[in-house]
Amino acid sequence: FNTLDGVNVAGKRVLLRADLNVPMKDGVVGDTTRIDRTVPGLIELADAGAKLVVITHFGRPKGARVPEMSLKPVAEALAKQLGRPVKFADDCIGDTAAGVVNSLENGEIALLENLRYHAEEEKNDPAFAAELAKLGDIYVNDAFSCAHRAHASTEGLARALPSYAGRLMQVELEALSEALEAPKHPVMAIVGGAKISTKLDLLGNLVAKVDQLVIGGGMANTFLAAKGVNVGKSLCEHDLLETAREIFKKAEAANCEIVLPVDGLVAKEFAANAPHDVSDINDVADDGMILDAGPKTIEDLNKRLESCETLVWNGPLGAFEITPFDTATVSVAQHAAKLTKEGKLLSVAGGGDTVAALRHANSDQAFSYVSTAGGAFLEWLEGKVLPGVAALRG
Ligand code: 3PG
Repeated sequence: FNTLDGVNVAGKRVLLRADLNVPMKDGVVGDTTRIDRTVPGLIELADAGAKLVVITHFGRPKGARVPEMSLKPVAEALAKQLGRPVKFADDCIGDTAAGVVNSLENGEIALLENLRYHAEEEKNDPAFAAELAKLGDIYVNDAFSCAHRAHASTEGLARALPSYAGRLMQVELEALSEALEAPKHPVMAIVGGAKISTKLDLLGNLVAKVDQLVIGGGMANTFLAAKGVNVGKSLCEHDLLETAREIFKKAEAANCEIVLPVDGLVAKEFAANAPHDVSDINDVADDGMILDAGPKTIEDLNKRLESCETLVWNGPLGAFEITPFDTATVSVAQHAAKLTKEGKLLSVAGGGDTVAALRHANSDQAFSYVSTAGGAFLEWLEGKVLPGVAALRG
């Protein structure tokens, strides 16, 4: 794909698809990570003299002008993080949008209203893409986290205008490729979270690519049960034991070692500070629930990490939202962060709860790359072609 290197944007209208789908409560933007990651790329373009037109979706209004899903508060938050004014247009197409875009001087920035106020966006309607395309001379896609959607602004536009990967998209694709497409071996993947049912394709793809696949969190119980381990009352998808056995087989054929917990923190209820015991994985009581990996497992994982070159992480190792069942996630995340800082490990993480878990462990800053993508990161781990990335490749 084309990057922005060497592209003269001075005086050009640059239509930039960002992902400013940020957490918001009562009209106030919460976590600004997605905005903060977008800002340097915007400043680079603005300073190069572009007339910058930023487009994004927000929430899932399904084609209706839902007032709570207006981007107005996001425009304010963006202006604040940029330290520069942001003009706002009440609509992303038509005269309103054109009016604001035409008023831009070189180096000025506008944000257009929610793309998903128009149902045609998600339908990838070519006529809608053509309406958007009227607002730009070139198209920049800087929204990796939306690249799994084949929408007008993420896919259609790439065919309507000369198109480029934005800086954030570029960094993200480079980091992901270093971690999984052409990684240094040995490669470890840690996949955690509650259920395997949502991660079957992901596990199937990873066993073919990594040397060690660590399965943690509630998901591990299904794999343990598939091996005949009694997991008591732990979360377990009993209808997927056969599927788990197939993944074991696939892993064996691909020379990938599946690493499961050898012990756990076992409680009788799912609650913060619930009384708990450390239990060998083969001695879980019938009324026990495994809520976190135990100390032997943590030691094993941390030791394994020391001989790895690359780590890809998705999903927590235990019920990290409640203490002390965050122990394994925190300990392994901190160890991975330490090895990364020492230059001994390339670590990439993303998807769903993962960013929150790493932040909770105070480790997110030290990782080589933490993606703010949810669904797109997972689909990338599944080995799928992301339509937004494919469209940029032409
Ligand atoms: C995300 O938050 O993962 C992206 O912004 C995509 O949002 P969506 O799942 O509503 O398409």
